[in-house]
Amino acid sequence: MTTTLRAAITAVGGYVPETKLTNFDLEKMVDTNDEWIKSRTGISERRILREPGKASSDMGTEAILDIIRKKNIDPLEIDCIICATVTPDMPFPSTANLIGDKVGAKNAFGFDLGAACSGFLFALTTGASFIETGRYKKVIVVGVDKMSSIIDYTDRATCILFGDGAGAVLLEPSTDGLGFQDAILKSDGSGAKYLNLKAGGSLKPASFETVMAKEHFAFQDGQPVFKFAVKGMADVSAELMEKHKLTGDDIAWLVPHQANLRIIDATANRMGLTMEKVMINIQKYGNTTAATIPLCLWDWEKQLNKGDNLILAAFGGGFTWGASWIKWAY
Ligand code: UT7
Repeated sequence: MTTTLRAAITAVGGYVPETKLTNFDLEKMVDTNDEWIKSRTGISERRILREPGKASSDMGTEAILDIIRKKNIDPLEIDCIICATVTPDMPFPSTANLIGDKVGAKNAFGFDLGAACSGFLFALTTGASFIETGRYKKVIVVGVDKMSSIIDYTDRATCILFGDGAGAVLLEPSTDGLGFQDAILKSDGSGAKYLNLKAGGSLKPASFETVMAKEHFAFQDGQPVFKFAVKGMADVSAELMEKHKLTGDDIAWLVPHQANLRIIDATANRMGLTMEKVMINIQKYGNTTAATIPLCLWDWEKQLNKGDNLILAAFGGGFTWGASWIKWAY
């Protein structure tokens, strides 16, 4: 027994829109095919939020309402909502604030955190630190992206990859040694040129020219990102395991960001894990950016056991990357 105050994940919620966009649908939109997409990425279909007037906050709200229902908590007890997203409803107010209003978390403060595909990991570490100080008792971390709002569906290099969704976790204090153990997080802004959204910020405010140049869509130079991702995600996961003298046998689950099945394979290999210990749902959701990791936890929640060692790992725009070690608490 230890008296160290840790942050335990005590509930998981999720939401994916009903509309599916399959590889066969994409074959009709751009010059691509199911075989190429599946063999190069592992993706078969992704979900798209089609309803007009619906945005990231609506998906984040559904994911958090899932937690509120499961745990039967009063929204007024929530202290803080951290929303990881690159597709906020609007630049301000923050999507976390909009979600807080929609779920009735009247006593919570909230803010958005932008770290692209590593957003959930960065937000989880931030939320866990809030709990570890002893100041807050219920922190919700939600990863949500409506990637369809920034994807050019005439660009086959990106439109096959991304989907929409939201996943959330509730963090609460724990003194039994379970919960969030450690994280190693990294950023390198020199990678900005490979993966970005060029316009709509203070550098290039929206104009007729930026719209005509399609600069409000996500841009990715896939091959260099792939190389950095394979190395970054595997290296940081190995570094975290070495730091804590963990071997593949100690790990119950790898929970990787779902960008490409080949990147996930390489990371699992480096960690000495067989694929049955790796959460993979990329085939049905594609890359939902900040939502991939919590959506894996949501899909696997029933198979997780108290005390399981989980390594969460991500790599994404920035570049940003990292890994965290969690002992499952329920
Ligand atoms: O989550 C954030 C971090 N992002 C990532 O981690 C993504 C990292 N990158 C990747 O996953 C991969 O680079 C992609 C899946 C994006 C692309 O796979 P790739 O194996 O790197 O393909 P490539 O870009 O090297 O293209 C290979 C070929 C090219 O044709 P040629 O030049 O060899 O004739 C492309 O034009 O495949 C062609 N191609 C396609 N063909 C059919 C590119 N996109 C498509 C497509 N359908 N959608």
